[in-house]
Amino acid sequence: MERTFLMVKPDGVQRNLIGDIVSRFEQKGFKIVGAKLMTISKSLAQKHYAEHEGKPFFDQLVEFITSGPVFAMVWEGEKVISTARKMMGKTNPSTAEVGTIRGDYGMVTHRNIIHGSDSEESAEREISLFFNKEELIEYSKDVDNWLR
Ligand code: PPS
Repeated sequence: MERTFLMVKPDGVQRNLIGDIVSRFEQKGFKIVGAKLMTISKSLAQKHYAEHEGKPFFDQLVEFITSGPVFAMVWEGEKVISTARKMMGKTNPSTAEVGTIRGDYGMVTHRNIIHGSDSEESAEREISLFFNKEELIEYSKDVDNWLR
């Protein structure tokens, strides 16, 4: 089953959006298989955003993502990589559709609330950067068995 790496950025944590964001992905039907609140070191941030090194916004991006705790997650489900990206909305919240996370809660690109892997390769790379194998839980869900 496909997996993706999603991360509530420091602005989302500060603005109490973790619960809402987790809820959106749960309600969609995806399954959370790993999660942790953590602070990112400068070197991890540089590795995570390595493909953007040299771009004018790189330093600002690293400074922002290391500026406070983030909520790192791994989610599982059919087409979860592309669907999560759609649910996040465009990079610039001012042009992101209403109904998406960035469209509903964001205003500016340098504070755009959530990160999500953009391909299978980046999902694999980002998951292994942030999580050990033991931190990812394989389990099945059966709501009926947990009602009474
Ligand atoms: S690019 O050049 O098209 O590949 O860049 P893009 O995919 O739009 O963005 C890459 C990540 O950089 C963030 N970003 C910025 N951060 C701060 N300031 C500015 N101006 C800026 N522009 C882009 C953007 O949110 C992406 O980070 P993630 O974590 O993937 O959302």
